[in-house]
Amino acid sequence: MDFKVVSLTSLLLLVVSALVLFGVSEAHSYSYVDDYSAPIVKGLSWHHYKSSCPDLETIVRKHLKKVFKEDIGQAAGLLRVHFHDCFVQGCDASVLLDGSCSGPSEQDAPPNLTLRKTAFEIIEDLRELVHKECGRVVSCADLTALAARDSVVLSGGPDYNVPLGRRDGLNFATREATIANLPGPTSNTSFLITSLATKNLDTTDLVALSGGHTIGLSHCASFTGRLYPTQDPTMDPSFADDLKEICPALDTNATTVQDIRTPNKFDNKYYVDLVNRQGLFTSDQDLYTDSRTRDIVEKFAADEKLFFEQFVASMIKMGQLSVLTGRKGEVRADCSVRNSDNAYLASVVEEEETAAEL
Ligand code: HEM
Ligand SMILES: *[C@@H]1O[C@H](CO)[C@@H](O)[C@H](O)[C@H]1NC(C)=O
Ligand SMILES: *[C@@H]1O[C@H](CO)[C@@H](O)[C@H](O)[C@H]1NC(C)=O
Ligand SMILES: *[C@@H]1O[C@H](CO)[C@@H](O)[C@H](O)[C@H]1NC(C)=O
Repeated sequence: MDFKVVSLTSLLLLVVSALVLFGVSEAHSYSYVDDYSAPIVKGLSWHHYKSSCPDLETIVRKHLKKVFKEDIGQAAGLLRVHFHDCFVQGCDASVLLDGSCSGPSEQDAPPNLTLRKTAFEIIEDLRELVHKECGRVVSCADLTALAARDSVVLSGGPDYNVPLGRRDGLNFATREATIANLPGPTSNTSFLITSLATKNLDTTDLVALSGGHTIGLSHCASFTGRLYPTQDPTMDPSFADDLKEICPALDTNATTVQDIRTPNKFDNKYYVDLVNRQGLFTSDQDLYTDSRTRDIVEKFAADEKLFFEQFVASMIKMGQLSVLTGRKGEVRADCSVRNSDNAYLASVVEEEETAAEL
């Protein structure tokens, strides 16, 4: 009889906790912070800094909150830096290296153009704060991935866990690699599908990741080819008129918002823009024109939750492209220079060695 009571009680408990769990996950349907089910590559883990830097994510989130309060536009810059990092040579923070062709150097390759310099400074500020607290254990590549995630969250998008443990690369990204790996805004869907397939990203990933353009700015040069000399027939004519006012010539040096409906909010309005032929780039609008991706665009436009779920899955995938783990690479003491080129670090190490000898 005792046994019966116990098992009945535990059954009841089980049912109640199942209900509670279900209810909770329903209430926070835009948050994936309890979900560790996404596949992760060997060497990365969900709790990589749990003992070595337990406050890492709190420090990053708190600092970015402060930065975005001043200028929410910085969120877009940080999201884009992570994308550029991962697409060129893998998520190894090569994009942050001064002298890398995808980074803040003198002779950047074309897609350079417009990465915000401030994004690099913000990541270096995060590194300084985090290393002050925990020592040189957290990589610049991981900080870039976390900053991208927080940019999404603090702009109103979904929260999710980031697998961690990336190491910083020792190789500069070449000009050739940068050009070859970053598709341009004049790309059509065929080209983009093929290009992303080389990174094991599928058609759904392409449409979901392009949703990153729900925030941020673009320079005229990235889309004026659709206005002059002939107007792209897939663009809404009245939207084209508005863009012509902002960019009266092919090479006008001005910027405009990428999502005209909610330019600073991370939501599904980018897809609503596309359905209304108000996408900025050929690479955006062709996702609606092309029959292979049109359905996905329409689904995301109609269902923000579906978009958020897919965006999270695709970001976690993108965030693991060719990562260095374990003993590969290093943890930089300055995100913009390799440790071997870091004169300050060399002097510190020398001092430590001298001190140890004494
Ligand atoms: C699919 C291929 C992609 C192409 C062709 C593309 C192209 C571009 C271009 C041309 C710009 C504007 C640069 C300028 O003129 O200033 C831009 C901005 C931006 N892109 Fe992409 N992009 C792509 C994918 C992505 C992905 C995967 C993400 C992130 C998930 C992303 C996030 C952003 C953001 C946030 C901005 C605004 C940056 C800022 O305001 O500083 N893009 N992209
Ligand atoms: C980006 O690259 C192009 C082509 O190499 C160059 O003309 C341009 O000055 C660069 N832009 C910046 C901001 O460095
Ligand atoms: C897409 O772009 C590629 C490369 O620029 C081009 O060869 C191809 O003809 C284009 N496809 C369509 C359907 O426009
Ligand atoms: C474009 O305008 C910005 C801001 O006014 C300025 O900093 C930049 O040097 C200009 N670029 C060119 C190529 O004229």
